[in-house]
Amino acid sequence: MTQKNKTMIAPQFLSHYAHDVEHAIQTMMDERLHVVPEHLLHAMSYALLAGGKRVRPALVLACFKACGGTDETQAMQVAVSIECMHTYSLIHDDLPCMDDDDLRRGKATCHKQFDEMTAVLAGDALQALSFELLSSLQTSSDLRVDLLHRLSLAAGGQGMVGGQMMDMQADIHGVQNVLEVERIHIHKTGALIRYSCEAGAILAGADKEQLQACSRYGEAVGLLFQIADDILDATASSESLGKSAGKDETQGKATYVSLEGLQRAKELAQNMQDIALESCKTFGNQGQPLVQLAHYILERGQ
Ligand code: IPE
Ligand code: IPE
Ligand code: MG
Ligand code: MG
Ligand code: MG
Repeated sequence: MTQKNKTMIAPQFLSHYAHDVEHAIQTMMDERLHVVPEHLLHAMSYALLAGGKRVRPALVLACFKACGGTDETQAMQVAVSIECMHTYSLIHDDLPCMDDDDLRRGKATCHKQFDEMTAVLAGDALQALSFELLSSLQTSSDLRVDLLHRLSLAAGGQGMVGGQMMDMQADIHGVQNVLEVERIHIHKTGALIRYSCEAGAILAGADKEQLQACSRYGEAVGLLFQIADDILDATASSESLGKSAGKDETQGKATYVSLEGLQRAKELAQNMQDIALESCKTFGNQGQPLVQLAHYILERGQ
């Protein structure tokens, strides 16, 4: 497989979902035209609509359907909410004080296109917007509170932001072993991915067994996703990734690739995929999109 078509093997439903998600994002942003300062809204829309694979929304929607959910309007709102949270994490991850990146989703990073102050504020606003969207779901208040609580944990100090802190500290102090890398990955990337799966299941009214299966699937796919990202950083081109490749090595990042080598990283990714696929068995045919997503995420990095 060539470097270029590495990222072109997404299952068809992923681009179908991505199209629907983009439409929903555009509508949601249009509704905010006169209530958010224009410059801020521009920066938020720029980052949100710059492209992106929309893997987390696809996970919400696929878990929702696997668990028998039917009201897709509500699921789409949860999907847009997670994409806002994820996009904020990318804007801040790219800032000069973090990974200092110029390229994101095939375009200039938010702080390059606008300026640092605008990028920080666009990220802040997207984070709050993510919670706003969840809080206005047309569901029981118990369900809303459950999702809000889970997202708070997944996004904050116990989740993504905590992982970003560990990642930054590892840049300074290094890591002792691969378990520390795993801990960073589970927090900085795994937490939001696992939440996406659980949120889809909960919204669908999943039973205990279904929720556990989605949670286990999300945990495995979350780790798989960051291992694949690390492998791609070391092996793919900036053009195919839409972000600058080879940065982990230049910046001395602690990754599976830097600690264990490319081959072992690929084996670990395979192990994670096996766990994810095992969890899909609970859903029979309804779980096919989840099976395909796990294949896609692994194959991107092989
Ligand atoms: C990139 O996420 C950041 C990581 C957590 C590895 P994605 O690879 O999902 O980025 P987009 O959303 O497709 O741009
Ligand atoms: C970022 O990990 C995880 C986030 C919380 C955004 P990376 O720093 O490896 O993501 P990329 O490679 O810049 O997309
Ligand atoms: Mg980073
Ligand atoms: Mg980065
Ligand atoms: Mg990376």
